Amino acid sequence: MGYFLGVDLGTSAVKCILVDEQGQVKADKSVEYPFYQPHPGWAEQNPEDWWTGSAECIRLLLEKAGVSAGEVRGVGLSGQMHGSVFLDGELAVIRPALLWCDQRTAAECDWIEETVGRERLGELTGNKALTGFTAPKIVWLRRHEPEHYARIAHIMLPKDYVRLKLTGEFGIDVADASGTLLLDVAARDWSQEVLDKLEIKREWLPPLFESNDIAGYLTAEAAQATGLAVGTPVVAGGGDQACGAVGVGVVKPGIASVALGTSGVVFVHDESYQEDEGRRLHSFCHGVPGKWHRMGVMLSAGGAFQWWKNHFAGEELARAEREGRDVYDLLTELAATAPIGSEGLLFAPYLTGERVPHPDPKARGGFVGLNLRHGKAHLTRAVMEGITFGLRDSLELMKESSVEVSELRVNGGGARSLFWRQMIADIFGYPVVTVNSTDGPAYGAAVMAASGVLGRAIPELCGEWIQVVDRVEPIPANQAAYERYYEVYRTMYPTLRDTFHQLSDLASQG
Ligand code: XUL
Repeated sequence: MGYFLGVDLGTSAVKCILVDEQGQVKADKSVEYPFYQPHPGWAEQNPEDWWTGSAECIRLLLEKAGVSAGEVRGVGLSGQMHGSVFLDGELAVIRPALLWCDQRTAAECDWIEETVGRERLGELTGNKALTGFTAPKIVWLRRHEPEHYARIAHIMLPKDYVRLKLTGEFGIDVADASGTLLLDVAARDWSQEVLDKLEIKREWLPPLFESNDIAGYLTAEAAQATGLAVGTPVVAGGGDQACGAVGVGVVKPGIASVALGTSGVVFVHDESYQEDEGRRLHSFCHGVPGKWHRMGVMLSAGGAFQWWKNHFAGEELARAEREGRDVYDLLTELAATAPIGSEGLLFAPYLTGERVPHPDPKARGGFVGLNLRHGKAHLTRAVMEGITFGLRDSLELMKESSVEVSELRVNGGGARSLFWRQMIADIFGYPVVTVNSTDGPAYGAAVMAASGVLGRAIPELCGEWIQVVDRVEPIPANQAAYERYYEVYRTMYPTLRDTFHQLSDLASQG
């Protein structure tokens, strides 16, 4: 039997899966690595940890699955987007990578928009300068760590460092490259004009591929580290959002995916390049060759729920341990005991600043509307509702751009909960479906590997391998109740913006 290996380099862990030639998942494995926040708003990881974690994860997966190296026909890479890996001429990592959720580059974003011209930047890259993107991180290094900047010979995104270790080759797919702010997204090529204006050398950047192109073959050293066979093909793969969308079959118009990972993303496929008016949504190349997509990204979705669990769910954590249950199931059961709207309580989910629809690194979180009747069930429900209202904001932008949606495909950790899926259906007003593939980006990466190796189109494989297994319809009475709260939710950020900024400034003064 032949298998395709999907590797998804996440923010807290790398996840690897093996998928057989009929699209069935044989086994999965995850390995965690550290995440560093050296200052408020900063987020870093060590690229070496990504590589050692990935190599270990692949080895453990092969062992667990009882699959031999020779049976793995191809590898696909997915990964957290936008992070900046800086290497010197000896291929040594110069400093820890700045991640997608790092917020230190507000001044560099302003400089980029002034230097290229806000409108011109949008015309060339399809996007505006946002702190999470890669180009501002490069400019930050030049301004703040010139000794590191002077050593740069190569710049790449997180999963492309793992590619380099696996194959000895530089390479990047156009989907992930779209999030650098250096790509001419419409032309699917690096923008020479942006590179020139920002004084970033083109030779520092990897060559571009489509996601299912074979971009290298496993080296002997990598074979030793991973247990895979020398010469195994590695396709270009994609950023985790493009891979996640492929992984749930969002490879044609009319379906939107809602990804509830650390970040929260609403994603639609575009047959042709579409600029979002005001560039509030991201317009990127898709992992489907020759296609594009738009997406809205909120920075703390599952991440906000995880924060709530880590700090305030001691009781549920202990019970989960005792009863052998998942702590998130206990938390959603608790949330379900509070009514819609949590009796007049809203949660602002901007714990790490926000990107869409409020591009604001100084946005913060909060509970608004607390009264003495509120207990933990209300607060837990408010956290879930606040995250879901935040995601609805992205869908509203899509509706303003006349994107036609008839169904939402939910994936990521939150998708496991029926309670949360019903909440999404009610708040968004669309049917929410789940599909048989629950491994999101790792599955999409495996589909890309299969497409490249078997020479079959990605949408064709998705059509064969991915089926809808569950459908939740919106409940009209719930929809009406949520709608009243959503109207208030929309006023919350503009009302509290100045307060958020003042508090963020005070916190950074120490
Ligand atoms: C997408 C984004 C996040 C990361 C998370 O633009 O920044 O979804 O890719 O892994």
